[in-house]
Amino acid sequence: MKSRAAVLHGTDQEWRVEEIEVDPPKAGEVLVEWKAAGLCHSDEHMVTGDMVPPQEAWPLLGIDDLWPVVGGHEGAGVVSEVGPGVTSVAVGDHVSASFVPSCGRCRYCSTGRQNLCDAGAGAFLKGMITDGTSRHRMAGGGPELTLFAKLGTFSQYSVVSEDQVIKVDTDFPLEAVALVSCGVATGWGSATNRAAVSPGDTVVVVGIGGIGINAVQGAAMAGARHVIAVDPIEFKREKAMEFGATHTFSSMEEAFPSVMEMTEGMMADKVIMTPGVLYGDLMALGTQLAGKGGTIVVTGVAPMTQTESSVNLFELAMWNKEIKGTIFGSLNPRADIPRLLNLYRDGQLKLDELITNRYTLDEINDGYQAMRDGSNIRGVVVHG
Ligand SMILES: NC(=O)c1ccc[n+]([C@@H]2O[C@H](COP(=O)([O-])OP(=O)(O)OC[C@H]3O[C@@H](n4cnc5c(N)ncnc54)[C@H](O)[C@@H]3O)[C@@H](O)[C@H]2O)c1
Ligand SMILES: [Zn+2]
Ligand SMILES: [Zn+2]
Repeated sequence: MKSRAAVLHGTDQEWRVEEIEVDPPKAGEVLVEWKAAGLCHSDEHMVTGDMVPPQEAWPLLGIDDLWPVVGGHEGAGVVSEVGPGVTSVAVGDHVSASFVPSCGRCRYCSTGRQNLCDAGAGAFLKGMITDGTSRHRMAGGGPELTLFAKLGTFSQYSVVSEDQVIKVDTDFPLEAVALVSCGVATGWGSATNRAAVSPGDTVVVVGIGGIGINAVQGAAMAGARHVIAVDPIEFKREKAMEFGATHTFSSMEEAFPSVMEMTEGMMADKVIMTPGVLYGDLMALGTQLAGKGGTIVVTGVAPMTQTESSVNLFELAMWNKEIKGTIFGSLNPRADIPRLLNLYRDGQLKLDELITNRYTLDEINDGYQAMRDGSNIRGVVVHG
């Protein structure tokens, strides 16, 4: 079948909305009609090249050609066809995307770490998780397509592995489900799970986009005493206060003396790093903002080839600090996407308020420009 999709043909280009060809699902696969797709910063890293493996490494990674790429990994939609052997969803079911697959059987899934599922390997390859062959190509006999995170929610339709869709109740607005599928889960889990924020903690969140605002929301829900949001943009700081921040600052430098004062010199228990791009030099203050025994969670994506960061290793050892990475807030999509949606249903988790602007697929570049300008907490593409 034909579908319209936002396609990227190389770095430093705009998304082009083009016609693509989608084959029917094979065994273990599902055709999804995506209804809503969030404009997460992670897709932007393909545009800037920060998340593009260097071409010299392609043969090692098994990549013949990365381009063209269909974007989008935050999304929700309706199952429109299932391949043989699919049991967890049926036609008509509403589903959340999951940019981390969960096969349920690998070493990581079977030990409660679905965010590390082995089926997530090969994310830059064109083939399906199921059998390595491709279901998507440019219309008119064009090249096969890579789907960002093997999802491609910037397409009206795409075929994905059953391992990457989570059935959700049909009464949830699909825009809200889309937000949970990446930004909300990642930010909230960075605070509640990976940082393990406890009642009374002092928490600093650096970078208030779709991820950081949910780290603020998670830290507040976990009972933090101080939730300190840092972002150079005033609108972001105002929004952070609405989502549970107790203090805001425009930079880590500005926050530093105040964090020292409000903690009587002890500094933060938890620092969560969620800037748009995690440049290595941000880690100097990022780690200094944490006190003795403090935890620094690295959620923001760094340029892939960056190997240097400015962490003071003497302080790291002597103050017994820890730095932890996280993918998907270290949550388990099959359990935690429905868990977060239930908190939303009960009025305990804000989702609707995260959406600053909605766009048609054709307006996707406007949406990403708004993200770069800092005028959106989250933009959402609503597929027509
Ligand atoms: N680890 C994961 O699983 C995961 C999942 C999704 C997204 N991410 C990453 O999280 C990061 C944030 O994504 P997003 O969608 O929220 O981005 P965003 O662009 O919506 O928000 C980023 C915010 O950081 C702010 N910022 C930039 N530099 C800053 C600095 N030095 N100090 C303070 N604030 C600063 C910006 O003003 C902006 O408000 C991205 O790198 C994204 O790729 C990681
Ligand atoms: Zn994302
Ligand atoms: Zn697995």
